[in-house]
Amino acid sequence: RTEGNLRPQLLNDYIGQEKAKKNLKVYIEAAKQRGDALDHVLFYGPPGLGKTTLAGIIANELGVHMKVTSGPAIEKPGEMAAILNNLQENDVLFVDEIHRLNRQVEEVLYPAMEDYAIDIMIGKGATARSIRLDLPKFTLVGATTRAGLLTAPLRDRFGVVHHLEFYTEEELQTIIIRSAKVLGVEIDEAGALEMAKRSRGTPRLANRLLKRVRDFAQVKYDGKITKEVADFAMDLLEVDRYGLDQTDRLLLTTIIERFSGGPVGLDTLSAAIGEDAGTIEDVYEPYLIKNGFLLRTPRGRTVTELTYHHLGIK
Ligand code: ADE
Repeated sequence: RTEGNLRPQLLNDYIGQEKAKKNLKVYIEAAKQRGDALDHVLFYGPPGLGKTTLAGIIANELGVHMKVTSGPAIEKPGEMAAILNNLQENDVLFVDEIHRLNRQVEEVLYPAMEDYAIDIMIGKGATARSIRLDLPKFTLVGATTRAGLLTAPLRDRFGVVHHLEFYTEEELQTIIIRSAKVLGVEIDEAGALEMAKRSRGTPRLANRLLKRVRDFAQVKYDGKITKEVADFAMDLLEVDRYGLDQTDRLLLTTIIERFSGGPVGLDTLSAAIGEDAGTIEDVYEPYLIKNGFLLRTPRGRTVTELTYHHLGIK
């Protein structure tokens, strides 16, 4: 992926998530001094905020390899055992969407995380017995959208847990300027700020928008991204002043027009707009809630005054 070269490789080049960064710096330094594996790390929060990037930085700063996999990709306990057994001392194993591991695969992780060992069953029936196989020490970095999706035994085995937050406009502006430099695109402060405002607090979206806006700048203007170019391109892309896209607006207008502004239950809303309930909950809602467009109440989702105002609906 081209996204790859926009990812920072070192903690010092990583912008934002100051709390996570400050703590990780200490833990990484301490583990290196001891020549030990870093404790297992869990990142949770909405997609696109840098969980994979941070995992890569951790491995890089530790000077070890990173093996990347995901919850849905590992179907059998033996596959997980093989991955663990092939790691080298102190390596990082990154498991994205770790809440989607099936139960038996997850159970392989318990002794692996706790004792760096796996238990293998030999034989069947009355003569069956299990033998313990030692693994190299390793660091499991898990990523999930919500910590509450993990089972308690898995969650409890992470020594370091960080919630990733939406980025501020200033942080996103800095990221966009850095990415533009990497891509060799000219951009001014006002252009970067306008893009930051429309990036939903999310670097992945900011970088994706940057590539599209660059195309407009190149073909319709003189190549430089100014506020005028950014406005022109993002209006065409139907990303509005708050960064809301077509799905966000469909979700909000549906609540207003079909459910009198709410409250409406998640599953009802999901059926009405034809979007997966989990995706609504993990991808769309966090930003809408954080910015006051949506409320989660015990009786369902409700829009706010701001929503009516922003959408121009009376
Ligand atoms: N690119 C994507 N996310 C980033 C971040 N947090 N800091 C710097 N560059 C990035």
